[in-house]
Amino acid sequence: MRIKEEVNLFTEFKIKGISLKNRVVLPPMVRFSLIDKDGLVTDGLVKWYEEIALGGVGMIILEACCVAENAKLRDNQIGIWNDSFIEGLSKIADVCKKHKTPTLIQLHHAGFKEGIAAVSEEKLDGILEEFIAAFHRAKKCGFDGIEIHGAHTYLISQLHSKLWNKRTDKYGDRLYFTRELIKRTKDIFDDNFILGIRIGGNEPTLEEGIYIAKEVEKAGVDLIHVSSGVPDPSFKQDRKIEVPADFPLDWVVYLGVEIKKHVKIPVIAVRAIKKEVEASYLIENDLVDLVAVGRAMISRPHWMSWAKKKYKFRKNTGGKLL
Ligand SMILES: Cc1cc2nc3c(=O)[nH]c(=O)nc-3n(C[C@H](O)[C@H](O)[C@H](O)COP(=O)(O)O)c2cc1C
Repeated sequence: MRIKEEVNLFTEFKIKGISLKNRVVLPPMVRFSLIDKDGLVTDGLVKWYEEIALGGVGMIILEACCVAENAKLRDNQIGIWNDSFIEGLSKIADVCKKHKTPTLIQLHHAGFKEGIAAVSEEKLDGILEEFIAAFHRAKKCGFDGIEIHGAHTYLISQLHSKLWNKRTDKYGDRLYFTRELIKRTKDIFDDNFILGIRIGGNEPTLEEGIYIAKEVEKAGVDLIHVSSGVPDPSFKQDRKIEVPADFPLDWVVYLGVEIKKHVKIPVIAVRAIKKEVEASYLIENDLVDLVAVGRAMISRPHWMSWAKKKYKFRKNTGGKLL
């Protein structure tokens, strides 16, 4: 009988031709205080990503970089809307490469506070072109891939959601924008360039999250990162899903675990994963492929070595998972 090899947090993982040394990912987090008001990368930001790479994570997802100047979240968010950003962003790609840490860049458009119903078809055509141009720039910078920001009520999340997207033109097909973006940038993806997407696992329901995940898989995405969407256009409702009483982690993590059951490509789960045992629970039980550790990594950039000590202690003392 073949014995199944034990998989743990420190087991390597491969996405296409790219090897990750373990199962932990830094999720995208805008470091507002380390960004210049023109959206340029600062030395402080390069240093921050170097620190994370030295900390030994399996993969970094660089914070939301804006594809259009008029689509920023805040003044000090990194831009990628013209070639002047390539130099700074390349410094981050280079430093992560130097420390053998694959890095994806998240591409983002903040969307429209009033919703997307009033946005003209021509305007959306233009934004699609801006995304395509940003994809090409991201490749030039030397990253290992791209993560499309399709969660958290921003443009692509609004398009994916049937609560938000009541359009009657071609963008009324909720996945049209995403599919078209993927189709029109296919030529830049190869075995060494990953295409990921962050989606809302409750967009507005888990069933819709599963539908979106299957559609993006069909369209050719290599990796899905499950976060939250917005179930209610009034922004008042945070969640609308039932989580079994015995699920020991955050409800957004649960969305990732459920979506994983419906796709063949790798899935990243995220939110409120702080301890080694929480991350290990997800990997050792094969509930998802990768775990993202965000705020806990800000307070402890070398979270990996701390987690390794905790892991060893738990194994040596017969400590249980959750
Ligand atoms: C300061 C900060 C900035 C963030 N910026 C982004 C971002 O650029 N893109 C994104 O998709 N999510 C962003 N997020 C959400 C994180 O990626 C992550 O999903 C969230 O913090 C939950 O994970 P955690 O509990 O491990 O921190 C941000 C979160 C924080 C705290």
